[in-house]
Amino acid sequence: MLVLGIETSCDDTAAGVVRDGAEVLSSVVSSQDNVHGQFGGVVPEIASRGHLENIVGVVHRALEGAACSIGDMDLISVTAGPGLIGSLLVGLSFAKGAAFLTGLPLVPVDHVQGHLATLDLAGGTPYPSVALVVSGGHTTLFHMSSPDDIGIIGTTLDDAAGEALDKAAKMLGLGYPGGPAIETASRDGDPASLQLPRPLSGTDRLEFSFSGLKTALFTYLGRHGYLDTTGEGRARLPLSTSDLAASFQQAVIDVLVEKCIGAVRLHRVNHLIVVGGVARNAALRERMSRVGVESGFEVHFPPPSYCTDNAAMIAALGFRKRAEAGTEIMDINAYSTKALKRGKGPGNRD
Ligand code: KG4
Ligand code: ZN
Repeated sequence: MLVLGIETSCDDTAAGVVRDGAEVLSSVVSSQDNVHGQFGGVVPEIASRGHLENIVGVVHRALEGAACSIGDMDLISVTAGPGLIGSLLVGLSFAKGAAFLTGLPLVPVDHVQGHLATLDLAGGTPYPSVALVVSGGHTTLFHMSSPDDIGIIGTTLDDAAGEALDKAAKMLGLGYPGGPAIETASRDGDPASLQLPRPLSGTDRLEFSFSGLKTALFTYLGRHGYLDTTGEGRARLPLSTSDLAASFQQAVIDVLVEKCIGAVRLHRVNHLIVVGGVARNAALRERMSRVGVESGFEVHFPPPSYCTDNAAMIAALGFRKRAEAGTEIMDINAYSTKALKRGKGPGNRD
């Protein structure tokens, strides 16, 4: 079964073709990073316009890359939410139009569940498992008994980890997107040079909080004149930008690792899956994998290119949800947020 996936939930325009929910024939992502970079973050209106300009070309390239035509497809899978509503509507409207013209069935899918399906594309998703989706919009732990039994066991109370990295990078003048910039700067820095808090650490709560960590960096930088536009404070500070980046990255990684270990122990599983944009981070991958070996559980990361937003994962999820596909598509709508479904069992504080 060939599935065409379409993803436009934030600022990346993506399309991909996947066979039987596992074999990627093509995955095309058109990034708008350089457009939004000058504003230090995603500007929703500009993102929607960018998708409008890119979507036709991106879908063509995905079909060409898979050596297919739209007529060869069996199903179209499209992200319906959560995300920026204007961005989502571009991909969803395009998918509806394509399904209407071709008669192909369409299945609207959830972006976060798409991240959770990523390992289907890289050897298979193990069950039962704990999964961490860690991206610019989400930092959430899931317990997964099977593809149809996935429940939230913990999430962030405020910022997502990627959002905190993006904001820290902005304060440090490292540009957008901040996660990769912090990672690069960290390579020359000392992660122990600045003591930053590890929010909600040392508790058995499977919850995250990153806004205080961000404020701690902001306060430190402000107190030492680092944010001063003359650059004098920055020159006087004994710590380099690399030291500050490495310290911040280390604090984020420490919290992510601690909560993942807690979740794996609490739910007594042997597999931990880490997905989403921040899962590209080499220091996180290395540390989490080492901890898994030491603690006796297997840690699974998708290849880096499938961590950040892509449409291959949306096609994989569409294959899983193919029974929900239909040709009655006109009522399908986009959604910006969705009430989270809590999982059963330990760690659930609802
Ligand atoms: O999954 P994604 O592409 O979009 C969302 O669903 O949010 O994740 C984007 C996030 C951004 O916050 C970006 O800074 C972060 O992932 N990111 C990274 C790295 N690459 C992307 N964070 C840390 N290290 C990286 N190498
Ligand atoms: Zn995402």
